[in-house]
Amino acid sequence: MIAGVDYPVERIVLLTGAGVSAESGLSTFRDSGGLWENHDPMEIATPEAFARDPALVYRFYNARRNQLQQVAPNAAHCDIARLQAEFPGEVFLVTQNVDDLHERGGSPQVCHMHGELQRMLCLACRESFTARQDYDSSSRCPGCRAPGALRPDIVWFGEIPYQMDTIESQLRNCDLFIAVGTSGVVYPAAGFVRQARAAGAMTIEINREASEVSSFFQQQRCGCATSEVRSLVEELLAD
Ligand code: OAD
Repeated sequence: MIAGVDYPVERIVLLTGAGVSAESGLSTFRDSGGLWENHDPMEIATPEAFARDPALVYRFYNARRNQLQQVAPNAAHCDIARLQAEFPGEVFLVTQNVDDLHERGGSPQVCHMHGELQRMLCLACRESFTARQDYDSSSRCPGCRAPGALRPDIVWFGEIPYQMDTIESQLRNCDLFIAVGTSGVVYPAAGFVRQARAAGAMTIEINREASEVSSFFQQQRCGCATSEVRSLVEELLAD
């Protein structure tokens, strides 16, 4: 039984952010030394930035895609996958992360609300496809063969995240909401804690430090994702 939860938990929504992959060696966005310290997000992560300087945007995402080969899932990814496999109720995992470490950690279901580094989207035929190589303005769509129409399948600022209907329905029906390693700065994900509370769910935050939305959580567990996720998963599976 987890402290503060006096009912049997049946449906969990677990939200992750860049902090869950930090101990694998991937930079977060807003911590000191984070990705947005060296790059202005408005020069990289918007449709306007891509239109203005596609070469810069391709380079940024090619480098991040290649970096995935040098990192491995950490204990937090693996423990989340274990919770999904062994919890007798439902665990819906929604991540803001565009890496593939949840999948490589064994998660059977991952909702990538901000897209995926290893997918590209063709603006000519609107198909999204698995992408493992480098891309530039001359790359052709493997489906429709159109040249110069590919963009990273990443949700940029000003765009609507993927699968919002599914996520909102999961939030309306969950009885426990857990957020791990996210700063609570970027919406709509930053608003999920309030949606879950409105639905009557218990809410727990795991973070190394207070986030922008910490005060909306009923319970804060301060520490690294690897150790705090392990304890929480053990408590949930012991019930
Ligand atoms: P941020 O970089 O904004 O926040 C990372 C959070 O993880 C911070 O609150 C840290 O305190 C915490 N953290 C760092 N290391 C940790 C660790 N080892 N254990 C636990 N917590 C740790 O990343 P996000 O909140 O994921 O969007 O950012 C949200 C979105 O902003 C991203 O998906 C991205 C970005 O712009 C797009 O690219 C569309």
